Amino acid sequence: MRVIILGSAAGGGVPQWNCGCRNCTEARQDGRSRTQSSVAVSADGERWVLLNASPDLRTQLAAHPSLWPPAGSRATPVRAVVLTDGEIDHTLGLLLLRESADTLPVYAPAGVTALLGDEWPLYRVLSAYSGVEPRALEEGRPIALTDRAGAPLGICCSATAVARRPPRYARAAPTAAFDVGLRLTDERTGGTLAYVPTAGAMDDAVRRVAGGADLLLFDGTFWSDHELGAAAGGADTPTARQMGHLPVGGPGGSLELLPRLDAKRVVLVHINNTNPILCRSTAERARVEAAGIVVGEDAMEFDL
Ligand code: MLT
Ligand code: MN
Ligand code: ZN
Repeated sequence: MRVIILGSAAGGGVPQWNCGCRNCTEARQDGRSRTQSSVAVSADGERWVLLNASPDLRTQLAAHPSLWPPAGSRATPVRAVVLTDGEIDHTLGLLLLRESADTLPVYAPAGVTALLGDEWPLYRVLSAYSGVEPRALEEGRPIALTDRAGAPLGICCSATAVARRPPRYARAAPTAAFDVGLRLTDERTGGTLAYVPTAGAMDDAVRRVAGGADLLLFDGTFWSDHELGAAAGGADTPTARQMGHLPVGGPGGSLELLPRLDAKRVVLVHINNTNPILCRSTAERARVEAAGIVVGEDAMEFDL
C-alpha cells in the first residue's frame, strides 16, 4: 500500500492566517508551510482513496503526480474518500471536488454522515453538483473499500470509535460515533496502516486500531494541555484534552504510551501550529526524536 501524507497540520495549517507565533512566523519566513490534515492511500498506485478531505485539497492534489488526471482526460485517480470525523478541517475539501464527473463515494461513521446532511450540510449542497454517495463505516466491521461502480480497491478498512465530543458546530447533536480511528490493510501485501488523527486517550480503542501496525499515523495536535490557551489567550479556550486530543508531552502523554502499541513506525500528524515539536531546535522536538517517533511532514511517503 502506498501512503502519502498530503497534509501534516491540524486545522488552520502552518502558518495559520491570524497567528504570529514563532512557528507561524518561521514558516512564513522560510516558505515552509504545512497544509491541513489528510492522507492518500492506494493498493495499486493508480486508484487512490483520500483519508479526510482538507481545505487545502486543491493544492495537495496538485503537488502529487500520482493524483493528477491522466493527460488528455477529465478524470481523477481519486476513487473514494474516508472520513474519520466531521470536523471542518477534515471535510471542507469535499466542496472542492464538486466538479467531479461522477458521484463520489464517501465512507464515514454514521454520526458524521448525519452531521454532513444537517448541521454542516455539505451533502445537501453537493447534491446540486457532482453529489456524494454516503457509505457507512460500521464500528468494528471490516469492509473492502470499493470505487463508485463497486470494484474493490484492494484495501480493507476497519473503523473503531475513539472518544470525543461532537464538533463545536454541533454540540447539541445526539450521542453517536463522531470520531474513529482507521486500520487499513492491503489485501495483497498484508501491510497495515493505522490512522488515528484524533485520540483523547490511549485506551482499548486505540490499541485495537494501532496495535502492531506497520505504520501508525497518530494525533500530534498538541504538546501540552494548555498550549492553545497560552497562544490564543482566551480564558475559555479549551484544553487539548477537552478538544479530544491527548497531549504528546507530560505525564500520561502519548510520548510515554506510544511505544507500548508496538507499531513498527510511528509518525505524528494533525500537528497544530502552536506545537513546539514543529521547531527543529526545541527540547520537545528532541524528546520526540529520541523516542524514535517521527514528526510528520507534508509529502512523506511510505510503502507498506
Ligand atoms: C480538532 O481537530 O480538534 C478540530 O479540527 C478543531 C477545529 O478546527 O475546530
Ligand atoms: Mn482537526
Ligand atoms: Zn502560530
